[in-house]
Amino acid sequence: MSVALYASKKFQGSSDCPKMGIVSVRFQQAAGVVLDRGEVIERTAAFVRSRLHSDSSGHDWWHVERVRGLALLLGRREGADEYITELAALLHDVSDYKFNGGDLDEGSRVSYDLLRDLGESEACARSVAEVVRNVSFTGAGSVSRMRTIEGMVVQDADRLDAMGAIGIARAFAYGAVKGEAMFDPDQAPHLHASEAEYLARDGSTINHFYEKLLLLKDRMNTESGRSFAERRHRVIEAFVHDFVAEWRLEDLPEL
Ligand code: ADP
Ligand code: NI
Repeated sequence: MSVALYASKKFQGSSDCPKMGIVSVRFQQAAGVVLDRGEVIERTAAFVRSRLHSDSSGHDWWHVERVRGLALLLGRREGADEYITELAALLHDVSDYKFNGGDLDEGSRVSYDLLRDLGESEACARSVAEVVRNVSFTGAGSVSRMRTIEGMVVQDADRLDAMGAIGIARAFAYGAVKGEAMFDPDQAPHLHASEAEYLARDGSTINHFYEKLLLLKDRMNTESGRSFAERRHRVIEAFVHDFVAEWRLEDLPEL
């Protein structure tokens, strides 16, 4: 099923997000229009696309589209609310701490304000903002604070997109933007014990595989996420193995 199809779908109400028609005073004054859920999704997508389209670090609009599709798929299997899941997937990287000077809360503030401006209820905006605040991986030693099933599927989807062939491409794209070495044999990988230590890391992209990407399969929140992660994990495991073997000339035939 195409991702575009998800976007045009009209969603049913949930307890956190009553059916549209609830319009904030601010938005009514600004536009005098009542948006339905499909329109809120479309405006949110347009807002995110306009902020991310020029990114070349693996956090571009297409990453968001892939996470949106994966999160909806996982969400359906896990019984998550589709509307909150789709909004949170769209907004999850709207202001990443890795690119905004380290502000872990900016993405959730931007998400909350946008949804309120689009006329969404406070409960809905809060649910989405909470997912956006907690989605990022912040080190081997830090524990996920995700509380809702919608947050769990968005986080699993984000992690699945950091694994497999696409995950490999994204890691090197990110490493290039950040000026990281591909690999430095003198620098051993390090499992960071705290969030602060992880955020201050300075290492190679291959080390990032040991410090994060190879740990992800055991960090999945949901059963569906765990099963989707298996194949992608094998892809990155084989890649790192081959990369190191080639570096050491161990891949060559006997001469
Ligand atoms: P998270 O917020 O959990 O890091 P994102 O969806 O924002 O997840 O994307 C992170 C992407 O950037 C992943 O593909 C990840 O592998 C890559 N990345 C993050 N830090 C590094 C790093 N130090 N070196 C290489 N790639 C990195
Ligand atoms: Ni992401």
